Amino acid sequence: MREKFDAKNYWEKRLQGNYDLHGVGLIEWGEQFNLWLYRIRRRFFLKTIQQHGVEQGKVLDIGSGTGFYLECWRDLGREDIHGMDLTDVAVQKLRKKFVDMTIHCGDIGEHPIEAMDHTFDAISCMDVLFHIVDDEHYAKAFQNIASMLKDEGLFIFSDSWLKGDDIRGTHIVHRSRTFVAKLLEQAGFDVVEVHPMFILMNAPVDSHHLILRAWWWCLYQVSARFHRVAGVLAAVLYPLEIMLLKLAGSDGPTTKVIVCRKRKAY
Ligand SMILES: C[S@@+](CC[C@H](N)C(=O)[O-])C[C@H]1O[C@@H](n2cnc3c(N)ncnc32)[C@H](O)[C@@H]1O
Repeated sequence: MREKFDAKNYWEKRLQGNYDLHGVGLIEWGEQFNLWLYRIRRRFFLKTIQQHGVEQGKVLDIGSGTGFYLECWRDLGREDIHGMDLTDVAVQKLRKKFVDMTIHCGDIGEHPIEAMDHTFDAISCMDVLFHIVDDEHYAKAFQNIASMLKDEGLFIFSDSWLKGDDIRGTHIVHRSRTFVAKLLEQAGFDVVEVHPMFILMNAPVDSHHLILRAWWWCLYQVSARFHRVAGVLAAVLYPLEIMLLKLAGSDGPTTKVIVCRKRKAY
């Protein structure tokens, strides 16, 4: 029988060892590759939020890690920003770094933040939910997020959103979009946009395309061994990835960003 995954312990250790963008990103790929991935994430996140018009109000970022998305929210001009993380290490460091923000400690798969019912105009939860391996806790996370959002509030998260069946790892579960869409519906969300976050620069978990799989395997073999080379490759790939993302529709071979609105008077 598979041993139960202890998420808190896993993330405490991982972030204690690497409290930086490759600790929260693709840890084996080194800092430079991850810096380029985060450039893409930032560009994409800012554009998506601007398109959906979250002009003002209180926002929450769940699974804040090093605070990358807290900074994005600040750059978008938000003033009342809350963060939340499972780990003591992230919460302590975030409280020191972002003294003007409120940082909560908690597990989104367990409870919403106390006394925060119907408080937030927007909530982000990027690259976090697929790390909740227990399906009940995963479903609970959507319920908890819905309870903290105001009616018609915006919820943006990333997930694998697979066309096919779930792929289960020890600390990550790539779930089928049918299953995730059902949970969103049950929690009172309407999905308003789905867009790929990467095309060539992340594992093609949602594709059986042999060339794409071979491409990722080769990139991994080089990049996991030679971090400097990985940085150079990422710099070269960056403009191509941006171009492909502009051309992409709502589907893609890897992580997607899903934008939802909480239904009124739910
Ligand atoms: C892959 S990192 C992503 C960090 C950040 N969102 C980013 O994209 O840079 C996952 C983060 O979520 C936190 N986390 C994992 N499971 C969580 C949970 N159930 N509730 C709250 N935070 C969680 C981890 O401690 C870690 O900081």
